[in-house]
Formats: sequence, structure tokens, C-alpha cells
Amino acid sequence: MATPLMVRSSPFWCRHCYTYQYPLNYKPFSSISYSPIKTKSFSLLNSAKMEGGTGITQEVKENLGEDLRVKKKIFVAGATGSTGKRIVEQLLAKGFAVKAGVRDLEKAKTSFSHDNPALQIVKADVTEGSVKLAEVIGDDSEAVICATGFRPGWDLFAPWKVDNFGTVNLVDACRKLGVNRFILVSSILVNGAAMGQLLNPAYIFLNVFGLTLVAKLQAEQYIRKSGINYTIIRPGGLRNEPPTGNLVMEPEDTLYEGSISRDKVAEVAVEALNLPEASYKVVEIVSRPDAPNRSYVDLFGSIKQR
Ligand SMILES: NC(=O)c1ccc[n+]([C@@H]2O[C@H](COP(=O)([O-])OP(=O)(O)OC[C@H]3O[C@@H](n4cnc5c(N)ncnc54)[C@H](OP(=O)(O)O)[C@@H]3O)[C@@H](O)[C@H]2O)c1
Repeated sequence: MATPLMVRSSPFWCRHCYTYQYPLNYKPFSSISYSPIKTKSFSLLNSAKMEGGTGITQEVKENLGEDLRVKKKIFVAGATGSTGKRIVEQLLAKGFAVKAGVRDLEKAKTSFSHDNPALQIVKADVTEGSVKLAEVIGDDSEAVICATGFRPGWDLFAPWKVDNFGTVNLVDACRKLGVNRFILVSSILVNGAAMGQLLNPAYIFLNVFGLTLVAKLQAEQYIRKSGINYTIIRPGGLRNEPPTGNLVMEPEDTLYEGSISRDKVAEVAVEALNLPEASYKVVEIVSRPDAPNRSYVDLFGSIKQR
């Protein structure tokens, strides 16, 4: 009989030995099939290929023999977005394998270089439901990073479809697959009403377009109740310029202004993957010239879990 989802303790990724470490008392979710030993990790992808349909790219596995180098594979949703693309690039630079989830394969061709064997590009529209998403995320992804955001257009429900239901679909796909790490790029002010920021122009502006911030908050709440090990990153206004100043990281519902480079947001998302201090946390980030330079362990460690 299925038992309710419950987190007893969490595995973590050791960047030194490049393997998953499991606490002695670790027990995976009992109601989902989750194999903590991902034998498929002992493979390399032979090329960055693309395909349509359900979008699962053919992998060619190379037996590494005694060489136990393992590339941990991360699925990135919204990979052709301004932040998503940076997340993909930084993951690859740090030695991860990446499954880049994109809506438009043609666009992806111009976004990424084709010759990286650690990059796999798959078609993934988050509005198409959790079953299809589970197919593309596959049983070889160890974690999901969501950097999607609705594209403004005539559809007033787009924020709900993408930023709420789309993210919920991704979480449900993770639960089906037993993927127990989820990182979401959300936004400061999602809970602006509760913070007394109803009249903040940014809060008003972003909610005029289909209640975008409310949609994101709903998705956040779903993730937090899901039992999945999450890190919700709420950045201030996003800039394309390279980072300046130092990173400020605060608890949820704290920051109501400020901005940050997309490069830095991507860095925070990638760092969160490796740090146990980032687990089950909501963090708000901006950068400021006068902020002290702190390590990620210190920054994430200073945020309390709620
Ligand atoms: N802009 C800001 O100042 C700001 C501030 C705080 C937080 N944020 C949030 O930060 C996140 C990243 O922002 P950004 O400006 O870097 O993003 P962006 O460039 O607007 O990219 C959004 C991504 O989401 C994808 N997407 C849209 N609908 C989708 C769907 N149905 N299925 C799958 N993917 C879909 C887009 O795909 P295509 O490439 O195919 O269009 C694109 O890759 C967003 O959630 C945004 O709301 C933004």
C-alpha cells in the first residue's frame, strides 16, 4: 500500500568524490520508485543531438571501465531563456551533464554550441502535462532546475499556464520519476501583498499581466508541500550585464527592490545543487556594491528553513 510522501533525510552530492552520499538512515520516498544508485550515471553522451516528438534523445553510453568519473545530469526547463541559457552554460562549465528542455528546437540550435558531448537538447513545453514532462526528464536526470517564465502575448492566462501550472507539472513529473531535487527561479515580491507591498509599482506592474507574481507564489507553495528537496531562488530585477557588487541573500518576503545580473542568478542556482545548506529553502537575492563578499555556504547557511 502506498504510504504518504515523507522526507526522512536527504542525499547530497559530494563535489570532491563526485558521487551521491547517502546518510546511513536515508530512506527514499516509499510511494515512488526512486533508485538512489543511478547506475546510468556511468555514461557519457556522445553528442548534443536534437529530436522532436516526445523528445528523448538517444544516448550512446561509453563504458568508463575503472574510471568512475560520473557526470551528474541536470534537466533545465526554459533552457533557451536569458537565465536558463546561462544556467546551462554554467552547469556544463562545472562538469555537469545537461538535458536542456526547450520549446523550440530550432531556436535551441542557435542558443547552444553543438559539439558539447555533455549537452542533450530535448523538446519540453511545461504546459503539456506531467506525463510528457516525465518522459523527457527521464530516469537519468538527478535534479531539475526551472527557469521558465511566460512570454508576454495575447493570452492573459499565460502566466497561470506557465508560471503556475507549468511548474506544478514539472514537480509532478519529478514525483513520478523520484527526482528529489528541484530548483526554481522565481521572483522577489511574489508574496508582496503579505509584505505590505500592494502599492509597490513592481508588484502592481507584474500582476497586471495575468497575476504573474500570484501565479509564481502558487507554484512555490505547491513545491514546498511536495516533499521534494527544493531551493526557491527569488531574484530582484534581472540584468544581462555581468555581475557587479556582491551578492545579498535574504529570507523569503524580505526584499522589495534591487536588481541582479542573470549570470549571478545562474551561479546561485548551480551552487545550490551542491550545497546541503541550500536544501528546503527560499532565498531572495539582489546584488549591492556595499555588501560584504560572503561564501555560498555562509549565505545559504544563514537562511533558516521554515
Ligand atoms: N525579468 C525580470 O526582471 C525578472 C525578475 C525576477 C524574476 N524573474 C523571473 O526569472 C525567470 C527567468 O527570467 P528570464 O527573463 O531570464 O526568462 P526569459 O528570458 O523570459 O525566458 C523564459 C523561458 O521560459 C520559456 N518558456 C515559456 N513558456 C514555456 C512553456 N510553456 N514551456 C517551457 N518553457 C517555456 C521560454 O521559452 P522560449 O525561449 O521558447 O520562449 C524561455 O526559455 C522567470 O521566471 C522570470 O519571471 C524575472
